[in-house]
Amino acid sequence: MLVRVVATGLCHTDLTVPTMLPQEMLPTVVGHEGTGVVERVGSAVAGIEVGDHVVMSFRSCRACEPCKAGDVGYCEQSLLLNYLGMRADGSTTMRRADGDGTVFGSFFGQSSLARHALAYADNCVVVDKALDLTRLAPFACGFQTGAGTVLNVLDPSPEEPIVVFGAGAVGLAAIAVARGAGLETVVAVDPVAARRALAEEYGAHAVDPADETADETAGPVEERVKALTGGGAAYAIDTTALAPVVLQAQRSLRPRGLLVALGLGAAEYTIDAIDLLQSGKIVRSSIEGEADPLVTIPELIALREAGRFDVDHLVTTYPFERIADAVADAKAGTVVKPVLVWGE
Ligand SMILES: NC(=O)c1ccc[n+]([C@@H]2O[C@H](COP(=O)([O-])OP(=O)(O)OC[C@H]3O[C@@H](n4cnc5c(N)ncnc54)[C@H](O)[C@@H]3O)[C@@H](O)[C@H]2O)c1
Ligand SMILES: [Zn+2]
Ligand SMILES: [Zn+2]
Repeated sequence: MLVRVVATGLCHTDLTVPTMLPQEMLPTVVGHEGTGVVERVGSAVAGIEVGDHVVMSFRSCRACEPCKAGDVGYCEQSLLLNYLGMRADGSTTMRRADGDGTVFGSFFGQSSLARHALAYADNCVVVDKALDLTRLAPFACGFQTGAGTVLNVLDPSPEEPIVVFGAGAVGLAAIAVARGAGLETVVAVDPVAARRALAEEYGAHAVDPADETADETAGPVEERVKALTGGGAAYAIDTTALAPVVLQAQRSLRPRGLLVALGLGAAEYTIDAIDLLQSGKIVRSSIEGEADPLVTIPELIALREAGRFDVDHLVTTYPFERIADAVADAKAGTVVKPVLVWGE
């Protein structure tokens, strides 16, 4: 489909991936939290019409074994469909106006940091036209990943404590859905005071990792998490992609606890092998919180409608011309989820 983009969220992955790409894949257009209005529909698309409002998420082939089992995040074609900068047949969807060189795109089957996106039936969710697309953009990735991890991977019972390292867009979405589901004890660890304050608004306990050095009575982060969770969290989520933090997260768990490391950027993590063995802990990762966007995004929209996924205030909108400010503010931690708005 050709989609006129209305709003695009900035995810940390949009900032990390270009730094990981080989030189020959630049320039590339990223953006994978797009929303917009369908302007044209290809002949192979069923069930989506011109004028429909869509949220654009990640692609999957929907034919391989993982896809057929519902694990679309682990589609055998995922690399090709989301990251290689071109269509499956090797052609690119964009070109420079001066004709000088290739522009790579098709990022997550959209490259939606643009006025128009070419997207697919397998990554587009049709949504109610009454909904505000500037608030729904982060449902495509960041919010889906944090909330999906809690709902699909952890599936906790109300008395099981959770700790979230990194109260950014992914972490706060996890906290929002956990509290919305009635979880009694949620702990957020983040060095940024404003982000801890947002976590506290959800009823989470907040831990400042900087206290460990600033206040010697505070003790190590993992000890403070253990004190707040009655001996350790049943579940930990890492969104920092920082190896020392992932280790803290593992050590914050109670025996048999589960850590899900969601961050992108570190090449290696350190695992405390003795603790892992003695305590029967599990350390794993997850693509997009095991979500199938066509299932999870409507579920999250319904939870939002029901007042159990309260994330609208995490969004700060910017006219698209101010993308550099949006990136700077995201990096500085002064906004949680910048969303670029493209106008008519
Ligand atoms: N697994 C997936 O499918 C998936 C999907 C979306 C995003 N991601 C990744 O998830 C990560 C989080 O994305 P985001 O958009 O929420 O980013 P973000 O930058 O908004 O959040 C990261 C948070 O970590 C905090 N932090 C920094 N140092 C810390 C420390 N020592 N202890 C605790 N917290 C600390 C930061 O203050 C920030 O609030 C990124 O690495 C992103 O690439 C993964
Ligand atoms: Zn597949
Ligand atoms: Zn993302």
